Amino acid sequence: MPIDIYAEEIVSHYEHPHNKGEITDASVSQHNYNPVCGDEMTMYLMINDGIVSDVKFKGVGCAISMATASMLTDFIKGKTLKEIEGMGINTIIDLIGIDPGPARLKCATLSLRTLKEAVFVYEHKEVDRATKEL
Ligand code: FES
Repeated sequence: MPIDIYAEEIVSHYEHPHNKGEITDASVSQHNYNPVCGDEMTMYLMINDGIVSDVKFKGVGCAISMATASMLTDFIKGKTLKEIEGMGINTIIDLIGIDPGPARLKCATLSLRTLKEAVFVYEHKEVDRATKEL
């Protein structure tokens, strides 16, 4: 797809985010922030038999961070915790269709870092280095 189609998709998810909200009886929730700008996000996961059955997020941030959270939360429904543990920056680039570049990298990875930390917390595991570096 041409770049401007991807940009339109990002704006559309930013203006009409999917899965925005809170799950009050979530299996796990995790709060995080972008160290560059201070914008925040909380991710709520409902997990059944090692599979994400529902997910919501709330937070404030730029178009890239919010659109990425919207797309990522759509993408992970039905995924296993193991699959999520294996996700990295390429997952995000594939989802949004563009390389965010160094200036917006932390915006683009905020939701994935929050999601992966939530999975590690749920599994009572230490957060791995690859996730900390997202
Ligand atoms: Fe804050 Fe992008 S500028 S998350």
